[in-house]
Amino acid sequence: MSSAKLVIAMVGLPASGKSTVASKIAQCLAAEGVAVRVFNNGDVRREMLAGQDSASPEFYSPANREGAALREKIARINLERAADYLRGGGEVAVLDATNVSAQRRRVIKQMMAGHTQFFIECVNPDPELLAASISRKAKLPEFSHLPQEQAEQHFRERIGYYETIYTPLADEENFVVLDTLDNRILRERVQAVLPYYRILRDLLVSDWVRSLYLARHGETAYNLEMRIGGDSDLTARGMVQAQALAWAFKEVPLPYVFTSTRKRTRQMAMVLCDGREDCRTIALPEFDEIDAGVCESMTYDQIARDMPSVHEARTRDKFHYVYPGGEGYVTLQERVERGVKKALYLSGNAENILIIGHQAVNRMILSHFLYRRTGDVPYIHIPQDRYFHIVSTQSRKLFELVRFMG
Ligand code: F6P
Repeated sequence: MSSAKLVIAMVGLPASGKSTVASKIAQCLAAEGVAVRVFNNGDVRREMLAGQDSASPEFYSPANREGAALREKIARINLERAADYLRGGGEVAVLDATNVSAQRRRVIKQMMAGHTQFFIECVNPDPELLAASISRKAKLPEFSHLPQEQAEQHFRERIGYYETIYTPLADEENFVVLDTLDNRILRERVQAVLPYYRILRDLLVSDWVRSLYLARHGETAYNLEMRIGGDSDLTARGMVQAQALAWAFKEVPLPYVFTSTRKRTRQMAMVLCDGREDCRTIALPEFDEIDAGVCESMTYDQIARDMPSVHEARTRDKFHYVYPGGEGYVTLQERVERGVKKALYLSGNAENILIIGHQAVNRMILSHFLYRRTGDVPYIHIPQDRYFHIVSTQSRKLFELVRFMG
């Protein structure tokens, strides 16, 4: 049956990206003037069991009757709250919980029978991302009494228990199965007229970037000599640029700062995050600068003189040229795209994200958000005294270059 009020039920294993999708939906619909609220079972659990240990994996074991009864009770409390909300002024209730068993979904269908229901199953098929996501979850306050390794192990066991009761969506009237890393719909069935469906569907397959800052590392010894690649340190001027960047962001909360694994980007982040509690830095190899292969550490002049065929071929088609033993823009594209997806995934729906990258890498990141012909991508100007500010949501698109040094 259809009604103008909508219940969106998230479905998926822990760490599959459900809460991120749920909060994006809420923000997106709220910006459209829709009365929307997220109902998270974890919040109710933490509220009810304050002080008790619900981080233990055994709490989630289907064989633990007491735990199962308690989790059922929590789910019903949350459903009641959602139903109350919809009986009042609420228009959309998002149920943020695993909801992986057919039995739990039957309860949802019964308790929400008067409203149109839409199930969104989130899957994250990438083991590396899952590991990174678990490591992030293990740092949450509920695991603070455990060493990191044990917390991760507990979280994995929790996932294991949910896997034993997992029934993928199949006979629900309206559903999508979403790859949350790729923002790709894998399966879809929508039989009712779903309120807000177009906007929701568009949201599910788009990058949702609340505020992404993209900076390049400051000057390095290699930059001064016009040498490419390598792993050199920031110069004194590079350090001044790092301090100027830090100054520019001193009032901006930065929960996530992504760098490459190279010293020059990490040094920038170190200066930026020095003395700040809110900054978490994550070095991603996907953001390492283009590998110039046999030309690493050479100057452009040396390449032109000693390897004229490389110089000529690269000048002819810079985007498609691949350095012998290294990379080209064309091969860089896939890895940088993966880095962007990884950064967006790992940062959840954080308000601000900063990426500190390199010249070629930042060109690829920029062209991910703003179309450029491939032939023009390797010539995008990437200064060291400015950062790009990118916002890309359903209601706001912004692309700004901001100077942070006089
Ligand atoms: O010169 C700095 C640098 O980051 C090099 O490490 C890299 O090879 C180069 O820029 C990429 O720019 P281009 O493709 O214009 O040579």
